[in-house]
Amino acid sequence: MKKTWWKESVVYQIYPRSYADSNGDGIGDINGITSKLDYLKLLGIDVIWLSPVYKSPNDDNGYDISDYEAIMDEFGTMEDFDRMLSEAHARGIKIVMDLVVNHTSDEHEWFLESRSSKDNPKRDYYFWREGRDGKEPNNWGSWFSGSAWKYDETTDMYYLHLFSPKQPDLNWDNPAVRKEVFDMMTRWCEKGIDGFRMDVISLISKPAGLPDAPLMNELYGDCGCTANGPHVHEYLQEMNEKVLSKFDIMTVGETACVTLEEAKKYANSEGTELNMVFQFEHVGLDGDAEFKWSTRKMPLVPLKENLTKWQKGLDEVAWNSIFFCNHDQPRVVNRLGDPSDEYREVSAKCIATCLHMMQGTPYVYQGEELGMTNYPFQSVKDFNDLESINAYYELTEKMGWKPSEIFPKIANKSRDNARTPMQWDDSPNAGFTTGKPWLAVNPNYKKVNAAEQVARADSVFNYYKKLIELRHKYEIIVYGHYDLQLAEDPELYVYTRELDGKKLLVVCNFSDNEREFMPDEEFRNGEVLIQNYEGSDVFDGILSPYEAYVIYTE
Ligand code: GLC
Ligand code: CA
Repeated sequence: MKKTWWKESVVYQIYPRSYADSNGDGIGDINGITSKLDYLKLLGIDVIWLSPVYKSPNDDNGYDISDYEAIMDEFGTMEDFDRMLSEAHARGIKIVMDLVVNHTSDEHEWFLESRSSKDNPKRDYYFWREGRDGKEPNNWGSWFSGSAWKYDETTDMYYLHLFSPKQPDLNWDNPAVRKEVFDMMTRWCEKGIDGFRMDVISLISKPAGLPDAPLMNELYGDCGCTANGPHVHEYLQEMNEKVLSKFDIMTVGETACVTLEEAKKYANSEGTELNMVFQFEHVGLDGDAEFKWSTRKMPLVPLKENLTKWQKGLDEVAWNSIFFCNHDQPRVVNRLGDPSDEYREVSAKCIATCLHMMQGTPYVYQGEELGMTNYPFQSVKDFNDLESINAYYELTEKMGWKPSEIFPKIANKSRDNARTPMQWDDSPNAGFTTGKPWLAVNPNYKKVNAAEQVARADSVFNYYKKLIELRHKYEIIVYGHYDLQLAEDPELYVYTRELDGKKLLVVCNFSDNEREFMPDEEFRNGEVLIQNYEGSDVFDGILSPYEAYVIYTE
């Protein structure tokens, strides 16, 4: 297997709006991030993935970009950005930018022109279609509820938006669009950034003729029909040839609806497209058949089956990104662990052990390293995220759900759970801002915060720090081959890694029960690399609730 820096790195995702506010307006900003680089250096991460900081009207918190080469007013200036980049580099930390090019904002200059008339030179930068019998051109639903088409009076036609109406889809079949995007990417690379996380990049090639999709519910067609479209690999190969291959950068595709077979193409080890992709099958396991909203926990047996499929399926032929958390996912302690006082820390460490000992590049989402938890939402008025708000109204008003039935499900899975401000210390607003935070701080910040955890040796923070150190020290953690044990056990996740005769045993008890488990003979003289019950005897055959440990032998 070819060795590279991005396989050996640990990535930390920052959602700038919620990270650190430097000027008291209640909104996180770039200078705030710069002030926390020493904290990140201490944690030991190698790369920051920065959620979008570009100019944006913030309909979808920066994922609706109106200028790819300017910084959002609320976040600061290009000088602030340059300073952050050089300060990060001075600490040996790389910065990967979010590249959101499936769509722009409807306030982007390209769209303003495109919308202005049928014969504008940029008309074909987006998808404009006539209505069908006075209605939308096809049945596609938006990922954010409602139709994926919006009627525009200016020219009496509809435009396509797979996300919000303020996020019109770019037409990648138009070579002029691809050139604009590739040139813009080149300018960022020349500026010295270290890579791209590519937003919903699996959706950029729409099926020819934009045909109706199979019905997802009684109202709309399945928007997943646009994933892994006919030319997506061709366009990414062109991007690779014209931009990516010219720089020593890291790329990760956010590939909604990706299958194992598709991932082998996107992240192929010949390097003709991207370095790695995010797959989402495992984080969908606690959803219900029709949609993600639910109050269920992640079921362990299917989770093991799924992650094992990806671990083994991409070994040697592609590369995994490994993650449980990001700005679109609820907090993992609630999904897979136990947020109660008794088990929050130990279960957060158990989850982290399980993920960080796998093959692939690990991603830590801000606050995950503290074991931050979901927010106790009380009503739809507490939400900021348009996905949660739209879903609530569509499901109650159009689909007939009772508010009391659907609200807890949305609250449990809402993207806002991940977006509450970072909890820095126990001062008002968790030290995130001196003003009024744009989204409420989780009330548990006095107990759960960075200052307390950095100072305490057995904290979740110091456990993540140790996991990251281990990955940097042991090649087997990066490159070793993975094998699952006890596939059918509903509470234990046990697996091994193997590389050149060396072996790791990873044992995680995902339950609050005491369980019997004895490591195999070959590990009896091994070294315990990390454990979340400090000092406990791993060979006594007993696992405490949420106990996790790793044994290394050579
Ligand atoms: C991706 C982003 C999400 C955003 C969507 C539209 O899924 O992660 O936050 O809303 O794309 O850009
Ligand atoms: Ca600010």
